[in-house]
Amino acid sequence: MRRAQAGETVLLVNERDRRRFVRTLEPGKSLQTHRGKVEYDHLIGQPLGAEIRTHLGFPYYLLLPTTDDLVSNAIRKSQIIFPKDAGYIVMKLGIRAGSTFIEAGTGSGGLCVAMATIVGDTGHVYSYDVRVGMQDYARQNLRRAGMTSRVTLKSRDAREGFDERDVDAVFLDMLPPHECIDQARQSLRGSGVLGWLVPTANQVIDLLKVLYASPDYGFFEVEELILRSYKPVVARLRPEDQIVGHTGYLVFARAVMSREVKLSEELEDNPDDSSPIVED
Ligand SMILES: C[S@@+](CC[C@H](N)C(=O)[O-])C[C@H]1O[C@@H](n2cnc3c(N)ncnc32)[C@H](O)[C@@H]1O
Repeated sequence: MRRAQAGETVLLVNERDRRRFVRTLEPGKSLQTHRGKVEYDHLIGQPLGAEIRTHLGFPYYLLLPTTDDLVSNAIRKSQIIFPKDAGYIVMKLGIRAGSTFIEAGTGSGGLCVAMATIVGDTGHVYSYDVRVGMQDYARQNLRRAGMTSRVTLKSRDAREGFDERDVDAVFLDMLPPHECIDQARQSLRGSGVLGWLVPTANQVIDLLKVLYASPDYGFFEVEELILRSYKPVVARLRPEDQIVGHTGYLVFARAVMSREVKLSEELEDNPDDSSPIVED
C-alpha cells in the first residue's frame, strides 16, 4: 500500500465543498483550514486515498495531485495558462519525453509545470521572464510539482533573444505577441513549432500580419478551446451553470526555410480541403 511520505506534495480535498489544498508535507508543519487544523506529521504514513480529519473533525481526502491539480491550484501572481489549453498546446507543439522547449514569459509557471512534466528527465524547459520577482512564484510551483531539475529559469527580456539553439518548440505568452518571432526562429530547429496564447482577436490580427510577411514561418493556425463541464448528477445530468467563456486564442506556426511570402488573401484562393484522407 502506497503511503504519504515526508516531503511529498499532496492534495487535500473535501468532496462536498470541493475546497482544495495542494501542500508539501514538511514534518512539524501544519495546514490551517476554515474547518480546523491538520498536522502534517499526522498525514505522513497515511495511505493515499484515505479520509483524514482536521482537529475539528472535518473530513478531507488525502490524494496525490494530478498535473491538473498542480496547475489549477498554482500559487499565482499572473494569469496562468489553464490545463484545458496547456494539454492541447503540448499536442500542437509536439512536446514529448526528451523535447527541448522555450517559453516566454514564465509568469506563475502554469505552462512551465505542465511542460516540465511531459519533457521528462531527458528533456528540458528554458523559461524567460522580464519582470523582477515574477519567477519566484514559478519557482515555488515547480518545487511543489517536483520539476525544478527539468527547468532553467532566465530573468531576461525575450526581445533580447534566447540562448538555446535547435529547440523543438517555443511558446510565447507575453504582450505584444508579434514581438520575438525572429528571436524564436533563431532558436527553433527547422519544422519546429512556435505557439502563442493571445487574449484578444485584434492582437491575433496584428500577429497574423507579421507572420504572413515573414519568410521563416508557414502553416498558420488560429484556434480557441471551450470546455464545458457537467454536473455529475445521475438523475439530472446537465452542464454546469457557469463556464469560463474565454481564456485566449491559440495561434501556431511552423518554422520553415525561405517560404515565398504570400498574403493571406492569396492563400484563400487556394482553399484547404481538410477532410481526412481514408486509405484502403
Ligand atoms: C500571462 S503571464 C505568463 C503566464 C504563464 N504562461 C503561465 O502559464 O503561468 C505573462 C508574463 O510575460 C512576462 N513578459 C512580458 N513581456 C516580456 C518580455 N518581453 N520578455 C519576457 N517576459 C515577458 C510578464 O512579466 C509576465 O510574467
